[in-house]
Amino acid sequence: MTWVEQLRAHEAVCRRAPSAHNTQPWQPEYHADEIVINVDPARSLPDSDPTGRDLDLGVGAFVEACLIVAADLGLNVTAVPGPRLVAAAHAYPTPFTIADVEARRVARGRYATGPVDAAALADLEPGFVHLPARDLASELVVADRWQFGTPAVVAELRDWLRLDPHHPRYHLDGLTDRALVLSWFEARFLAAALRAYPVTRRLGLASLLAASGRNLLRYDGSVLVMLAEGDDDHVTAGRRLLRSWLTLARHGLAVHPLSQLIDCPVTAARLAERVGGRPLAVFRVGRPLAEPVRSARLQPQATG
Ligand SMILES: Cc1cc2nc3c(=O)[nH]c(=O)nc-3n(C[C@H](O)[C@H](O)[C@H](O)COP(=O)(O)O)c2cc1C
Repeated sequence: MTWVEQLRAHEAVCRRAPSAHNTQPWQPEYHADEIVINVDPARSLPDSDPTGRDLDLGVGAFVEACLIVAADLGLNVTAVPGPRLVAAAHAYPTPFTIADVEARRVARGRYATGPVDAAALADLEPGFVHLPARDLASELVVADRWQFGTPAVVAELRDWLRLDPHHPRYHLDGLTDRALVLSWFEARFLAAALRAYPVTRRLGLASLLAASGRNLLRYDGSVLVMLAEGDDDHVTAGRRLLRSWLTLARHGLAVHPLSQLIDCPVTAARLAERVGGRPLAVFRVGRPLAEPVRSARLQPQATG
């Protein structure tokens, strides 16, 4: 088997990489001695992610996952712009393994109180700013209200929600009721409110839904902000993002991204000022009180 064939045989592991709304936009194109990482435009989020920031971060996370899997298989592979994966003289240097990629998951439930250990923060690469969760609690309400008050953003979210286990794509992609830690009643309520969105928007749905997340950051916990570093593009930043999540996971810590804080223009500007840089990702971090669910994934395309 060539290195390309071996890595292809492990595509399902690489696909454990995270992506916004769990769209899994990656379309690896396999050649004799390289793998080109394309994206499926139907799996982008033009309204919620108009600059393609989250799309590129997700592509970067997939590239990093591929490199970790290749290294664990003993394959000498590196990433070059494109992005493409090509043969290299040495294995990719990484402390992470297939087991780390498989085990990682976002956790949206409650976390233990208390800030994260200094030791975990010290293990991160440069470019992460720690903030007390409470400092962003009211900003999150503003960002949520913007998100749920923007029809195109809501329509896109609705397309990727799988709030009922009978949804035909429940086990394939998108965000399930379980991944969002919604009770049966909350899932039904959200589904009904989104179905009737033009009406519910006028009735103040945005405030209502924003209110449901009001307490998410009102606890003694931690938020990390990943800043743009130098000339790094967003794919490179996405690789750093996945490494940071895997590093935190090694410390028993989970993350919960809150991208609305950097999607909403008002909160994005205030956050940039607060941290003195260009935020590319924002996430709550801590020790989850309950085991997070394993999110759905598409199966790799069968080899022809
Ligand atoms: C760039 C990026 C942005 C994300 N933004 C959010 C977000 O704003 N809110 C959220 O709950 N999850 C967010 N996520 C997490 C994804 O929804 C999650 O990775 C996906 O559902 C797959 O789940 P898993 O990471 O547990 O495998 C984001 C992930 C990425 C890579």
